[in-house]
Amino acid sequence: MTTLFDPLKLGKLELSNRLMMAPMTRSRANDVGVQPDYVAEYYAQRASAGLIVTEATNVSPMAKGYVRTPGIYTDEQIASWRSVPEAVHAKGGKIFMQLFHTGRIALPDFLPNHAQPVSASNVRAKGQNYTDEGMKDFVEPRALTTEEVKQTIQDFATAAKNAVEQAGFDGVELHAASGYLVQQFLMKPVNLRTDEYGGSLENRARFVLEILDAMSAAVGAEKVGVKFSPAMPFNDIQEPDADDMYPYLIAQLNHKGLAYVHVGDHANAGWHEKLRPLYGGLYVAGANFTQERGAEYLAANKADAIAYGVKFLANPDLPERFRQNAPLNEPDFSTFYSPGTKGYTDYPALG
Ligand SMILES: Cc1cc2nc3c(=O)[nH]c(=O)nc-3n(C[C@H](O)[C@H](O)[C@H](O)COP(=O)(O)O)c2cc1C
Repeated sequence: MTTLFDPLKLGKLELSNRLMMAPMTRSRANDVGVQPDYVAEYYAQRASAGLIVTEATNVSPMAKGYVRTPGIYTDEQIASWRSVPEAVHAKGGKIFMQLFHTGRIALPDFLPNHAQPVSASNVRAKGQNYTDEGMKDFVEPRALTTEEVKQTIQDFATAAKNAVEQAGFDGVELHAASGYLVQQFLMKPVNLRTDEYGGSLENRARFVLEILDAMSAAVGAEKVGVKFSPAMPFNDIQEPDADDMYPYLIAQLNHKGLAYVHVGDHANAGWHEKLRPLYGGLYVAGANFTQERGAEYLAANKADAIAYGVKFLANPDLPERFRQNAPLNEPDFSTFYSPGTKGYTDYPALG
């Protein structure tokens, strides 16, 4: 019977347990996407995870949708990341970088020369985004040209190469969740394109599949994971055909030899039960997991690993706390996205 503390072979890596630290934006970078030194300490404190996935990292200047988020497309950004995998490896851990483009969730405030955000088409998301000047409404995006779509696919491949070959990460995770650009292409009401990237379900899925192929060609498929969050209630996600789209995507991914597929079932809508049986590779289940529920999923072969978000944020030694059935630290929501080390590197470990 598999437990949370069993090792796991992921590509060529040997993970020491089956707890993944879920990707979490922490907004500690400077305005040009360069990480401060103490980011290495934050991740190294959490190196006892079987696998860490970093905060979502911008693949290009137009990808940025949140204050103080890091990038991986300039030499200075790449250099600022190097100490992170180094520090995690020194403590025996493994770490992937999550790559994203926020598409229509970006605000002009975050983009070069206050540019209009881009998306699959010009459909504005309902809702607001955080800026240092307060909450602001999402704006109408501009549809990427077909040529720009192909360039964006290349941006993900270049970012993957930068992360693995230059910064020293063990792999990369494509962020295809949470209503950002990749998921915007999947959404029928948001993707009104008439080229090969819009219209039919197969055409709307083409963007994510081509990005994964390009990232795999750049660094090797066994170093590439992907995260989905079907029909998540966030960022105005509307997926009327999710029941058809995600089984189709999983069927396509069965041939790609990826490191893993990570699914966040944020509304507990039965997505793991639907998708896990369809996937032949490693399946990581995430969102709303307690230790008990994670153990139950692994024992019943409903997942190969479990992603923990907030619990890892607040408990740098989460695997050890689970082993000992020790109490967990409470998260401080007020410092999730605040600059500085408070609420970042100061959560205590046991003892
Ligand atoms: C502070 C914070 C930041 C997050 N940032 C990201 C992110 O950058 N990329 C991502 O895929 N998910 C992000 N998430 C979602 C988590 O990866 C995870 O799916 C979610 O927290 C649910 O898991 P949990 O119930 O174990 O916390 C974030 C969550 C939190 C709490």
